[in-house]
Amino acid sequence: MDHLRFCLNDRWIDLKDISPTTTVLRYLRDHAHLTATKEGCAEGDCGACTVAVAEERPDGKRTYRAINACLLLLPMVQGKRVYTAEALKRNGEYHLVQRAMAENLGSQCGYCTPGIVMALFEACYRDDLDQPWKIDAQMAGNLCRCTGYRPIRAAANEVAGKRPDDHFAQALGPGVKDEPMQLAYTSPHTQQRYYNPATFEELWDVLDREPEARIVAGGTDLSLEVTKRYADPPVLVSLEAIAGLKGVRPGAGGGHVFGATTPVTDLEDWASAHSPPLERMLRYFGARAIKNRATVGGNLCNASPIGDLAPVLIALGAEAVLRSRAGERRMPLEDFFVAYRKTALEPKEILAGVKVPPLPPHARVSAYKVSKRRELDISAVSAGLCVTVDPTSRRVTSARLAYGGMAATPARARKTEAALVGQVWTEDSVLAAAKQLAEDFTPLSDHRGSAPYRALVARNLLLGFFEETKAQPCPRLPHPHTATVEVR
Ligand SMILES: Cc1cc2nc3c(=O)[nH]c(=O)nc-3n(C[C@H](O)[C@H](O)[C@H](O)COP(=O)(O)OP(=O)(O)OC[C@H]3O[C@@H](n4cnc5c(N)ncnc54)[C@H](O)[C@@H]3O)c2cc1C
Ligand code: FES
Ligand code: FES
Repeated sequence: MDHLRFCLNDRWIDLKDISPTTTVLRYLRDHAHLTATKEGCAEGDCGACTVAVAEERPDGKRTYRAINACLLLLPMVQGKRVYTAEALKRNGEYHLVQRAMAENLGSQCGYCTPGIVMALFEACYRDDLDQPWKIDAQMAGNLCRCTGYRPIRAAANEVAGKRPDDHFAQALGPGVKDEPMQLAYTSPHTQQRYYNPATFEELWDVLDREPEARIVAGGTDLSLEVTKRYADPPVLVSLEAIAGLKGVRPGAGGGHVFGATTPVTDLEDWASAHSPPLERMLRYFGARAIKNRATVGGNLCNASPIGDLAPVLIALGAEAVLRSRAGERRMPLEDFFVAYRKTALEPKEILAGVKVPPLPPHARVSAYKVSKRRELDISAVSAGLCVTVDPTSRRVTSARLAYGGMAATPARARKTEAALVGQVWTEDSVLAAAKQLAEDFTPLSDHRGSAPYRALVARNLLLGFFEETKAQPCPRLPHPHTATVEVR
């Protein structure tokens, strides 16, 4: 396809002369004059711009996903169905989620309301809201300044998982198909190009032809360059349409491979059944609408020292799988990060995924994120910690202690690891080894935490890990309380 095409509120739209870095939010408000969708922060933090996009889940079923339109570039919905709050009222009848908000008095000024309604819309058609806290997590990215969250929460509890057999349920059914995402678009005015190659061959061809190309996946990082720094990247190449890069699959020789474009939501679902340490880290990663777009590869390739996936994956012994026309190469994930925000990727090479081996026998493993706020915040310090302890001698046989926020890249505490290996796994030996953290890291002070604070947190996480894994070698997070106010 050589132009932009997507289905907006049940009507297919074809666009031939718009910049491909126009966000869906700007398109809705400035071009389509659908102004229910609001702009609050323009950086994924407030939820005022939430829309719903029909997406395929890993099990092949289609579902609605709430997504921040302020971070979504138009070609990212190529061939997909998008709904805004304007579409919900049908044949003069308000949708269940609109009625629930009104009847629970969930709106005052109403600025946040269309975004909240679209987050509720996702909740309404979900079939996996089996714990009360998951309903809170669904809404964690939607801020409201004036109503107060109790009535909004009541509306959410009322509609979650209701899945009425209506027009929107039918639009998810087997009879309704999306169109292909494949795209090679040039804006006639700006000459900006945007590609959605569908195969690796197409990808390598585009990368050969377009030396200025930037790779993009979910866009939750890259779109901020457009919305906040007013960048206009001349060529973007998205990996989203390449089927072989998405999803979790068994790895050759055991373990699993997480495809680079697997959304964090899908990885979290997998981790909740298979990997408690990964599930712990992903629970407090962004909020639902961010997780619905953020990908595994994007999180690792932005090479942020405070990206949440790297420490836990390094602790789990992950390998980065890199791919180019020349073939595949692999390296320990810790070696993928070569300097502040720099990776080992060569030009025209992509991260295809990460391979995570099975847990070694007698492993104790966990992951921690420390931030100022529990939901939708960035880590000050994070850690993925894994030790193996011989059950007879009680001695540590291996240690992988990976930290984020302590250096220019996510990094292992090699000296602390060396001080632990061979020691009996006791509080005293952990305390003694933790002294080496000062040799491993010289953290910086910034607005998320001072250097002494970070050093203390890193030490305390190791001690906490010792305590927490006494009873359970691979602890899960408990289900959180669902509200600060008990509603009886
Ligand atoms: C509101 C908000 C909250 C957030 N919260 C968190 C959080 O709690 N924890 C956290 O860790 N992060 C968080 N992030 C950051 C971001 O969402 C994640 O890092 C996300 O995983 C990035 O993935 P993406 O696919 O959206 O990346 P993109 O924006 O698509 O890409 C990011 C970078 O990686 C490159 N890239 C992407 N995929 C590949 C690939 N396969 N091969 C080569 N290069 C590639 C791109 O060129 C770009 O430079 C948050 C962001 C926002 C806006
Ligand atoms: S405008 Fe705030 S999340 Fe998009
Ligand atoms: S009702 Fe005013 S911001 Fe929510």
